[in-house]
Amino acid sequence: MVKVTKINSKVYQIKIIDKEVRDFHGCVYPVKYGSSYNSYLIIDEKIVLVDTIDDIYYEEFLQHLKVLLGERTIDYIVVNHVEPDHSGCYSSIISEFPNAKTYTSIAGEKAMHAHFFKELEFTTVTKNDSVNIGEYTLRFLETPLVHWPDNMFTYLDGANILFSNDAFGQLIVDDVSYDYQVNSDYFYDLFDEYYANIVWPCNKSVGRALESFNQQNWKVDYICPAHGLIIKDEIYKVIQRYCDFVANKVSNKAVIVYETMWGNSKVMAYLLEKILVERGYDVKIFQLSKSRISEVMKELMDAKLVCIGSGNYNNCILPPVADFLERLKASQFTNRKAFVFGSYGWSKATLNNLVERLELASFKVISEPIYIQYVPNDTELLEFKQIVEKLEI
Ligand code: FEO
Repeated sequence: MVKVTKINSKVYQIKIIDKEVRDFHGCVYPVKYGSSYNSYLIIDEKIVLVDTIDDIYYEEFLQHLKVLLGERTIDYIVVNHVEPDHSGCYSSIISEFPNAKTYTSIAGEKAMHAHFFKELEFTTVTKNDSVNIGEYTLRFLETPLVHWPDNMFTYLDGANILFSNDAFGQLIVDDVSYDYQVNSDYFYDLFDEYYANIVWPCNKSVGRALESFNQQNWKVDYICPAHGLIIKDEIYKVIQRYCDFVANKVSNKAVIVYETMWGNSKVMAYLLEKILVERGYDVKIFQLSKSRISEVMKELMDAKLVCIGSGNYNNCILPPVADFLERLKASQFTNRKAFVFGSYGWSKATLNNLVERLELASFKVISEPIYIQYVPNDTELLEFKQIVEKLEI
């Protein structure tokens, strides 16, 4: 579905809403409701297209773009980000509008050539560059590694609109256009989930980008991201929320993740939940094979403690836990505590391996693995409880 929103008399959002898709960025980010991809059209003395969309939606996108253009054509294209969800149909667009001049960052030019293998001409821009398009002026700010090295912001001076691409995105697919049209808890739930799964590993770069952005002193009335809703009422809050993420703020929260073959590690996980709640923790518990991993990653952002339980799989970690550990490593958490627990059969190697993998992911492991052989009995569970109660967490 395509939704067109008139933001002001000269600026339009063309949004593709796909409620069917369940994998965003391949297998990395399973989504609950679907996804959306935003492109923006500025019809000033010059006509500018800011970002495109995933190639699979090209035909319907072009159809709506042409309605907005009428007899006119695109003068400039801005590539804020090369990743295929935003530039996938660039080749088709430039074939349709061959006289359009394309602006991108220096890293963007390199990445565009690496994606499209053809002679394409780009004009590279940096943070002091501007392009007058009539009433408005385009200004640029590189935001490397938010999310790829090529990312940049484009600011529409005169309209006070920031085209932020991945930054401030959320995978909200409701048939509305602005942040104030949905419930705030729902908005921030999806806003946070997007940050956790796309932006969190770039935390340091986000800090640098926010600093650079603040130095511009741009007045912003609308943040127009490349995914989800336009942000109008929540501008101050979303920027502050990004600052909090960058500051790595944690709360008194523990996330328990576990996987189990015959339910024994599960018994330990639920006892652990009870003990941690009694110790004042806000606890989230997930059986990995039955949970959407994107939600788990969101809950981790402000958790100061992570508890990982696994049974054995032929002397190895159960596969969903192994996958989770790889995600932890990729997400580059810092300053977090962790410990491992689980039921084993005849080898304890699995849980020791879990500790090693957690340390490789930069977690501070605060205890030896806590394990119980085969089926936990009451005495063993009591011992487990006593150990957890004494942990310095
Ligand atoms: Fe929405 Fe980095 O792509």
